[in-house]
Amino acid sequence: MQESVIPYEKQIFVCTYAKDGSKRCGNDHQGESIFKELRRVAKERGVHPRIRVAQSKCLGQCDQGVNVMVYPDEVWYQNVKMDDVQILVDKYLK
Ligand code: FES
Repeated sequence: MQESVIPYEKQIFVCTYAKDGSKRCGNDHQGESIFKELRRVAKERGVHPRIRVAQSKCLGQCDQGVNVMVYPDEVWYQNVKMDDVQILVDKYLK
């Protein structure tokens, strides 16, 4: 194992997990679409990969709609919808 510094200024994790229909962040709640749009804008604005938008598996809060975590800000968004993407873009992808 080799210890290193985190190579990203910020990481935005979007839960896209959707297994068996019981974990709901992904397909049922547009997690995949939200991830793809945030990643697309991050690349378009040239902030990727300094600010990295990543998809995650289950974050353990499945009943809260799409979950989004932002590090190192330590902010957790629940029930994120496509309509909220612009808010996240304005706040984090600059
Ligand atoms: S499937 Fe997203 S938090 Fe569990």
